[in-house]
Amino acid sequence: MRRILQLLKNVRSVNALRRFNYASKNYFFDKYLQMIRWVINSKEDTNYTYHLTEENLNYLAQTIAFITKSNFSSIIGYFSEAQQNKELIQHIQTTIQNSDQKKFTDKEVRFGRRLGWYAFVRILKPKIVIETGVDKGLGSVLICSALLENKKEGFYGRYFGTDINPKAGFLLTGKYKEVGEILYGDSIDSLSGFKENIDIFINDSDHSSHYEYREYNTVKPLLGEKGIILGDNAHCTDQLSKFSLENDRHFLYFQEKPKNHWYPGGGIGISFK
Ligand SMILES: C[S@@+](CC[C@H](N)C(=O)[O-])C[C@H]1O[C@@H](n2cnc3c(N)ncnc32)[C@H](O)[C@@H]1O
Repeated sequence: MRRILQLLKNVRSVNALRRFNYASKNYFFDKYLQMIRWVINSKEDTNYTYHLTEENLNYLAQTIAFITKSNFSSIIGYFSEAQQNKELIQHIQTTIQNSDQKKFTDKEVRFGRRLGWYAFVRILKPKIVIETGVDKGLGSVLICSALLENKKEGFYGRYFGTDINPKAGFLLTGKYKEVGEILYGDSIDSLSGFKENIDIFINDSDHSSHYEYREYNTVKPLLGEKGIILGDNAHCTDQLSKFSLENDRHFLYFQEKPKNHWYPGGGIGISFK
């Protein structure tokens, strides 16, 4: 039997099928099952949400610990703080249920890589955070909840989101709005008029590489010595890496690994001094 299998392996077409079967079974089959589950269970059409695997969250915490010179367990603690914030989760679910977006939004709240944004805000206690491109405002409320936690500890900060869509950011209401606002219009236009120093800048608006690069150059004069950039496009372009090299900044990239989701994941490009 073994000899027959060995002979068959030498027939090119049979071997090609065997190799195709190996690759699809080991690397893609689960993805097809996840796609089927997603088609049936999820209402999302864009800006997909998912949890990250536990190992992936650990990688994210280790990356942030290295950059911020803080310890791993405090970052894992911040991830849990956000995920267990019942008031925040309730706010997101209720606001979605009362909006026309409920047709395209899942009930379960899944932050994915945004937990990394949350941890950066909790650790660095920024005075100003900007996120370009807010969509529904999931990042907005999460960041504002981090700012509210910082405020309880005596650190005051403000959030500014930008979006070209006048209906974007509908999740940013209630107490979260006390520390944040959305600037409507083209992101570069809004950033050009911005005057305050930026501590954390998150890029997630127009995902074309030239626009992304322009955003970084627009905020460059406002980034303080410790100003950090979190790029949400680094899984698609190398613009933040390029900008970092040109401006004597370090650059690291974290790749998401979604849990039980077909999407291969985005990432966080991190540019820091
Ligand atoms: C990927 S979504 C942002 C997701 C969001 N950061 C989150 O955490 O869920 C991109 C958003 O960028 C906005 N956008 C696209 N081009 C823009 C531009 N030139 N200026 C401002 N916003 C823009 C879109 O309207 C969209 O809401």
